[in-house]
Amino acid sequence: ITMRVCLILLWIRIVVQPHILQCKAVQVFPPVNLTLTVSALAQVLLSWKPSPDQEQKNYTIRYDVKILTPLFEEYDTMKTHSFRTAVLHNGFSAHVRTLLLHKGLQVTSDWVTAELQPPPGAENTAVTGLSCVTHFTVSSTVSLHCTWLPGEGAPEDTEYFLFYRYETYTEECLDYIKDKWNRNTEGRFSVTHIAPGEIDELIVIHINGSSKYAAIKPFQQLFNQNAIEKVNVPRNVTVFFEQDDLVATWEKPLSAFPEGCFEYEIYLINLKSGNKQVSKTYLHDFRLRIDVTCRYSIQIRANHHMCSVSGFWSDWSEIVYIGKYYICLLFFVTKYLITQIPLFSVLQKKTRTILRASV
Ligand SMILES: *[C@@H]1O[C@H](CO)[C@@H](O)[C@H](O)[C@H]1NC(C)=O
Ligand SMILES: *[C@@H]1O[C@H](CO)[C@@H](O)[C@H](O)[C@H]1NC(C)=O
Ligand SMILES: *[C@@H]1O[C@H](CO)[C@@H](O)[C@H](O)[C@H]1NC(C)=O
Ligand SMILES: *[C@@H]1O[C@H](CO)[C@@H](O)[C@H](O)[C@H]1NC(C)=O
Repeated sequence: ITMRVCLILLWIRIVVQPHILQCKAVQVFPPVNLTLTVSALAQVLLSWKPSPDQEQKNYTIRYDVKILTPLFEEYDTMKTHSFRTAVLHNGFSAHVRTLLLHKGLQVTSDWVTAELQPPPGAENTAVTGLSCVTHFTVSSTVSLHCTWLPGEGAPEDTEYFLFYRYETYTEECLDYIKDKWNRNTEGRFSVTHIAPGEIDELIVIHINGSSKYAAIKPFQQLFNQNAIEKVNVPRNVTVFFEQDDLVATWEKPLSAFPEGCFEYEIYLINLKSGNKQVSKTYLHDFRLRIDVTCRYSIQIRANHHMCSVSGFWSDWSEIVYIGKYYICLLFFVTKYLITQIPLFSVLQKKTRTILRASV
């Protein structure tokens, strides 16, 4: 046993020793001049320089980056800069260190840190309850509409300003709706640079403000463009009876997404019984065995689940009625008379006989 332990120890020495030597020979210096620059709304450029003391020869140098706030993120890169999209109203901080790779070995430096302070502003002056919706319009562009509440601590004279950024394009809103204090609480862009039909691109919203009495804290939020799209209503809804089936057909909503992207809900009410049912389908038609002597109302709505995160359901399409009400009513009244009034019990028997005869 002693022999074997010795052998193992010897083996470890042989394998490990050259590495130790190499590590000792190589010094790894942290990067220098790490800077954070706000390069666009909710966008930071991190940049740094390799340490002038760092030997470059024959080593692969990479950098480990750790974003600490507002959201933790870790990655490594060979470049000496990177862009990050993040809300900045609570500040931003990051660590970077040098990572030296040589013959399967990794040696790291100490971290260097940089941070952006939150922008100034008095407590509770930032907007709250921000919500935004986009629409795909008939002109094949995207409109954007946002609403918010003034911060509880915002003076009455506060004026809020809404901006959006999409990729490299930034625009300020010019069309506002105001609350009773004359503060902007809604903003609209009837046309934007948001590309319709893109998947998972971000829309950056930035709202800042000014007041004579306080510094107003800015507020930012990032939205997935697909998640805030209010889908348009399905078009050309047609409903008819085919033998004992109710059949509904429709066409996909006005949208940049192709047909296969949509899920539909069909809301069917039997106006005789009051029965309501909601069915789902990925097709563009719907068929249901029903009592064709009754009257029904049908509405259809759409969402684009299949191709992206789901947006807001479309409104329900206009109500389409089918079936003749009076037949239903006649059936209902006869049934009521037959079952409820004793005088008609004879009639009931006769009716039954007639019914049986007719079957
Ligand atoms: C770091 O910044 C200082 C001051 O701006 C500058 O003098 C120096 O050259 C920079 N170092 C590198 C490696 O760029
Ligand atoms: C890199 O390493 C090779 C062999 O390992 C050596 O011949 C070469 O001179 C080295 N290059 C530099 C720039 O040190
Ligand atoms: C609001 O933000 C925009 C875009 O960053 C900036 O140009 C403007 O000066 C800001 N306004 C106020 C009042 O802070
Ligand atoms: C809806 O129907 C009308 C007339 O039948 C037709 O002109 C139109 O192109 C249809 N709409 C769509 C989206 O296909």
